[in-house]
Amino acid sequence: MTENLRDLDAWRSLPIKQQPSYPDAAAVADVTAELASLPPLIFAGEADTLKARLARAAAGEAFLLQGGDCAETFSGATGDKIRNRVKTVLQMAVVLQYGASMPVVKMGRMAGQFAKPRSKDTETRGEVTLPAFRGEIVNGFDFTQASRTADPSRLLRAYHTSASTLNLIRAFTQGGFADLREVHSWNKGFAENPANRRYEGLATEIDRAIKFMESAGADFDELQRVEFFTGHEGLLMDYEHPLTRVDSRTGDVYNTSGHFLWIGERTRDLDGAHIEYFRHIKNPIGVKLGPTTDPETALKLIDILDPDREPGRLTFITRMGAGKIREALPPLLEAVKASGAQPLWVTDPMHGNGITTANGYKSRRFDDVVDEVRGFFEAHRQVGTFPGGLHVELTGDDVTECLGGSERIDEAALESRYESLCDPRLNHKQSLELSFLVAEELEKL
Ligand code: PEP
Ligand code: CO
Repeated sequence: MTENLRDLDAWRSLPIKQQPSYPDAAAVADVTAELASLPPLIFAGEADTLKARLARAAAGEAFLLQGGDCAETFSGATGDKIRNRVKTVLQMAVVLQYGASMPVVKMGRMAGQFAKPRSKDTETRGEVTLPAFRGEIVNGFDFTQASRTADPSRLLRAYHTSASTLNLIRAFTQGGFADLREVHSWNKGFAENPANRRYEGLATEIDRAIKFMESAGADFDELQRVEFFTGHEGLLMDYEHPLTRVDSRTGDVYNTSGHFLWIGERTRDLDGAHIEYFRHIKNPIGVKLGPTTDPETALKLIDILDPDREPGRLTFITRMGAGKIREALPPLLEAVKASGAQPLWVTDPMHGNGITTANGYKSRRFDDVVDEVRGFFEAHRQVGTFPGGLHVELTGDDVTECLGGSERIDEAALESRYESLCDPRLNHKQSLELSFLVAEELEKL
């Protein structure tokens, strides 16, 4: 046990990227000590259950849906907004499940998705240069010296916000709200549009099937409780390390800040601190792979992070860009397949498709997102591997952040409701539309 914990500090001696510099080291030490004394947010047994579910997806018997904000915010952790995000994920999952006729593992980019990697450490506006915004767990979005200074008390606020978010997720998904018999009610409160209408049609079919089975004596009380997992980028070590605990049942080490953690494209250096830390936690983990990833790197990541080839342990989340995925992905799939390893392959069709519009917004075109998803399915069909999941930035609200979709959001429309503090999210309609398109791809498998 002590051995495990000692290993867990080895990352400290390695090069580390994307961490803030706090002006007051003593204050950071106080906060991390307090975090270390607070209760875990998730249990080891739940992480094990998720690993078993992901193992099925890696084997081609289930599909993973991960969705939520690019960057959660403290003010965004309201009952309404959390409910809308959970409903959106549930709706998408039901569309996918219906198309694929296989279980869909549901996971929010929620209850911990606060820290952001940035391409530059500073931001300059006019004559003024300040530290970059790194997510509300680190500093504030306002462009002032006071707000941009890294403040360790935000680590605690992120923890408590995650706890209350998770509490509501658990209430929604354990208390009957996520019951498949509620399939119609998840659509209520969202504005009428073609995607919603298509969803209504599907919900009616599902309802009818359930009623038919009930009339034949089937007992659906099992449907009352729905598994819904949480995941976030494991980026900020002053948060992740104190929430890492030894499981009293087994002596194994788990990160208890979320069920699933992934390493971002910018912090996955083979010799870096993040990889070293992730080696020692037993949770199911992910690694983002961008378009420049070479096959050797993918194979090394497998050897380092999943030496025992444990089913469900490792997920590769590819984010190549619509224009690159058809060339960049097949060689990775081939090499990994030839090695005999079976990670779960998930597409993130968001992060390779960023653009800046003429009127200055960070955006993404819905068509590019769809094209990357199609490229992902094509690549897997070509190589004979299983396209096992979808990872998207979304919100249940009617924001205007991504261009296109059936509402044909254009550049001017971005000005009306752009709320993300970081990357643009699919709104509720775009999310539903995407799920119908992915369902069609799944039907072809
Ligand atoms: C993200 O998921 O928000 C992110 C920063 O992704 P990536 O590491 O793929 O750039
Ligand atoms: Co993002």
